[in-house]
Amino acid sequence: MLQSFIILLARQQLQNLPATANIDDCSSQETSMFSLSDRVVIVTGSSRGIGLASARLLAAQGAAVVISSRRQEACDEAAAALRAEGHRALPVACHIGKHADLQHLVDATMAEYGRIDGLVCNAASNPVYGPLAKLDLEAFDVIMHNNLYSQIELTRMVAKPLQDSGHGAIVLVSSVAGLSGQNHLGAYAISKAGEMQLARNLALEYSAAGIRVNTVAPGLIRTDFSQALLADADKVQQLERSLPSRRVGEPEDIAGVIAFLLSDAAAYVNGQTVVADGGMLIAQSL
Ligand SMILES: NC(=O)c1ccc[n+]([C@@H]2O[C@H](COP(=O)([O-])OP(=O)(O)OC[C@H]3O[C@@H](n4cnc5c(N)ncnc54)[C@H](OP(=O)(O)O)[C@@H]3O)[C@@H](O)[C@H]2O)c1
Repeated sequence: MLQSFIILLARQQLQNLPATANIDDCSSQETSMFSLSDRVVIVTGSSRGIGLASARLLAAQGAAVVISSRRQEACDEAAAALRAEGHRALPVACHIGKHADLQHLVDATMAEYGRIDGLVCNAASNPVYGPLAKLDLEAFDVIMHNNLYSQIELTRMVAKPLQDSGHGAIVLVSSVAGLSGQNHLGAYAISKAGEMQLARNLALEYSAAGIRVNTVAPGLIRTDFSQALLADADKVQQLERSLPSRRVGEPEDIAGVIAFLLSDAAAYVNGQTVVADGGMLIAQSL
């Protein structure tokens, strides 16, 4: 309530609003900045983990979401769960590395909803673990293709509907791995650093079309993807002690950032990377 009142005063000063505007008007305006009502958002890799948590939050904010992953049954299951919670969700299987699948994802979304307002490029591949000295070109190509090229393709495919939407926004899910040197996640980290640059480039390219492009860089989040890193309970405890937030992240921690970046509350955030790592990066000191 106090926060609403302060914002109301600031708005009156800045915009010369009538002094009679009441606090309820102000709080509904505040809420609407975060609303995704009537928007259609595609989330790749959304049958579980960060993608599913994001789709669930976006749907709770009013969006119709497109649930996507390589397996149709997994998409059906996740979409059915969201529908049972009262949300709108369309399941469409799509392997991000396959051009025809990406086109089908976009076409099926347009056929069902007739518009696309947001895209979350969340699915990624990391088929290898080990030093670059032992990395073969085939694995490198798969990682770069799935984690970078597919995103260029998909953003190209949704550019026109996003432009027509009038508030088009894209979020790429990167990683803090792309912000520091890596011994064993080398190629993956290069692709994740590439995504941050991709967001900067695409933000410039699409700004004339009114489309914003940003990246979120999660720290360690409890999902299937990070299972191997979280398998050793002692190491996890040690890590949690070293984190300023004192815990490993949950998918919902990233979902909130994604929902913000897609909403009008982030209308002035463009080409940026938002780090959500519980303070992992700032805690590294000599
Ligand atoms: N978890 C972490 O600690 C962490 C940290 C930093 C960044 N990230 C990033 O967060 C994103 C999501 O990771 P997560 O942890 O949520 O993973 P997750 O729980 O393993 O979920 C991955 C999702 O992507 C789908 N998927 C995998 N490969 C795909 C492909 N080639 N095409 C389409 N869909 C595919 C999976 O479904 P199917 O298997 O059915 O296809 C699943 O829905 C990734 O970009 C990852 O790099 C994760």
